[in-house]
Amino acid sequence: MPDTPIAVTGATGAVGGRVAARLSARGIAQRLLVRDPVRAPNLPDAEIALVSSYEDKEGMRRALTGVDTLFLVSGRESADRVQHHIAAVDAALAAGVQRIVYLSFLHAAPNATFTLARQHFHTEEHIRAVDVHCTFLRPCLYLDSVIKLVGDDGVIRGPAGESRAAWIARDDLADVATAVLTSGGHDGTAYDVTGPEALSLTACAQQLSEVTGRRISFYNETVAEAWESRAGYGAPDFEVEGWITSYRAIATGEMGPASDIVSELAGHPAQTLREYLRRYPESYQPLVAAPP
Ligand SMILES: NC(=O)c1ccc[n+]([C@@H]2O[C@H](COP(=O)([O-])OP(=O)(O)OC[C@H]3O[C@@H](n4cnc5c(N)ncnc54)[C@H](OP(=O)(O)O)[C@@H]3O)[C@@H](O)[C@H]2O)c1
Repeated sequence: MPDTPIAVTGATGAVGGRVAARLSARGIAQRLLVRDPVRAPNLPDAEIALVSSYEDKEGMRRALTGVDTLFLVSGRESADRVQHHIAAVDAALAAGVQRIVYLSFLHAAPNATFTLARQHFHTEEHIRAVDVHCTFLRPCLYLDSVIKLVGDDGVIRGPAGESRAAWIARDDLADVATAVLTSGGHDGTAYDVTGPEALSLTACAQQLSEVTGRRISFYNETVAEAWESRAGYGAPDFEVEGWITSYRAIATGEMGPASDIVSELAGHPAQTLREYLRRYPESYQPLVAAPP
């Protein structure tokens, strides 16, 4: 048992919330840093610390005082997300945090095809440069999000070709994060956190067709088509570029390979897409209900 509570950010979200639930199930004291206490999970052994945002350095420093270990969930995509992460890290240091486990992204690199993975690289660089023990969890694209890639017309569109991604379920990512947070021997390590198999979007579409009974397909857009088909969303360019380059990174092979890391660190195999769909049939009901 750690001597001080483990701090968990992003606890109102999918990954941080799952990690908080898992720590709680193990009886581990934690401090949940949230922006909205009403949406904070209500868990035994969990204190709530209110922060306005990662970039609120003083608020983050206060919230992290008395904590040795921080699970830092990457923030919502924004053009200046690296600055937000750097502020959070610097606040953690000022508060005396000894160890940061950062939720990064697969193939975080300065020249990553997926432009948002470059932000994760620069965040990792900053954490490496300061005086703190650190571990980077680098998940692939979320398996749970495959369903959300399907358009109203039953088509997944993007410039991914027939290359494959090693999608990871957030359940499994949370199990890995919990294992790393509650055991030693991970300092200075970056873990690629992937699922057990790599699937193309054509293969994903096929599995979704099987479970929904509806024809779901993949259309391999050109990059120009990808910009055009997303033009009406009203999203800023950096975000559209992030979406499109996530498909391009599948095409280049940067969303793989698959590995046994979940078994190694969490002690059980990771879910495949087929298993996920069997376990969570409610997840694809919006596709069943959508008009043909
Ligand atoms: N691997 C992938 O496929 C993939 C896909 C999407 C996103 N991501 C990244 O992975 C992260 C975790 O995924 P998730 O599914 O748990 O996302 P999520 O459900 O959207 O949760 C994100 C959490 O981070 C908090 N947060 C975001 N920006 C923040 C900021 N600037 N300051 C303080 N708190 C902030 C949110 O707080 P509020 O509830 O107050 O907003 C929320 O609790 C995401 O934030 C994103 O960076 C990865």
